[in-house]
Amino acid sequence: MTFETLILEKKATIAVITLNRPAVLNALSNTLTKELGAALQDCAHDEAIGAVVLTGSEKAFAAGADIGEMKDKTYTEAYLEDFITTSWEEISKFRKPIIAAVSGFALGGGNEIAMMCDFILASDTAKFGQPEISLGIIPGAGGTQRLTHAIGKAKAMEMILTGRMISAEEAEKAGLVSRVIPAAELQAEAEKVATKIAGFSRPSVLMAKEAVNKAFETTLAEGVKFERRLFQSTFATEDQKEGMAAFVEKRKPVFKHR
Ligand code: HXC
Repeated sequence: MTFETLILEKKATIAVITLNRPAVLNALSNTLTKELGAALQDCAHDEAIGAVVLTGSEKAFAAGADIGEMKDKTYTEAYLEDFITTSWEEISKFRKPIIAAVSGFALGGGNEIAMMCDFILASDTAKFGQPEISLGIIPGAGGTQRLTHAIGKAKAMEMILTGRMISAEEAEKAGLVSRVIPAAELQAEAEKVATKIAGFSRPSVLMAKEAVNKAFETTLAEGVKFERRLFQSTFATEDQKEGMAAFVEKRKPVFKHR
């Protein structure tokens, strides 16, 4: 599939989606978010694909929603089109693992789409922020919720009320990113991690993702019960038999995703 605002590449078991509007630091236009939704749909339906890496350029993962495009929007237009939920939510609904590989700016909606991914690998040049307050708006794609879950109230509140950007190092300390990697190695490392995940039993990978996400939606007791049911159901898969037989026979498992 070819797109105007992003590049979708498939590399054996993984897909790499590269946001590609360099002149505007990958600002998230309507076209871009629609194309991102379509690229994810393609990956969701492609059985060969076990994980996705979402990335941008060295200078910017994405500098936020496209300000030029939204500046004249009226409330009625925003309400009627349910700005911005429809296409942006494809990322949070995506069932396969998706890793954000962030270099440079991840601001506003850019940080929000990174946070919709399962985890963020950051280059040492990455900068994260929610600068919406300086535009006379507030975050609108989950920033006030996901950032607060990720880094706690004190730091999220400070970032959202002041628009202060944080470095990759600060983001790692705060728990926003899982790891910081030298910029030149980020893409290779993200693809290596995605390939590793794609090699495991897909039903287990999807269940593990679903169970972790449940922690944000429910009580501890309900979450633990949900996890236990999924755990028990893994014993119905061929991959569980293969994984454990391979361990006992001291060989590498060959998962069939069944
Ligand atoms: C449209 C953008 C843009 C954006 C950058 N550009 N960010 N265009 N929307 N979000 C454009 C600039 O206008 C400029 O175009 C070109 O990209 C390069 O940017 P510069 O500002 O010249 O680069 P630099 O000086 O390095 O500064 C980088 C920057 C700054 C700090 C990231 O561009 C910036 O502050 N951008 C806006 C960030 C922001 O406020 N994001 C939140 C958006 S609101 P020209 O034509 O001049 O070369 C949001 C709400 C989401 O995301 C809520 C859900 C919808």
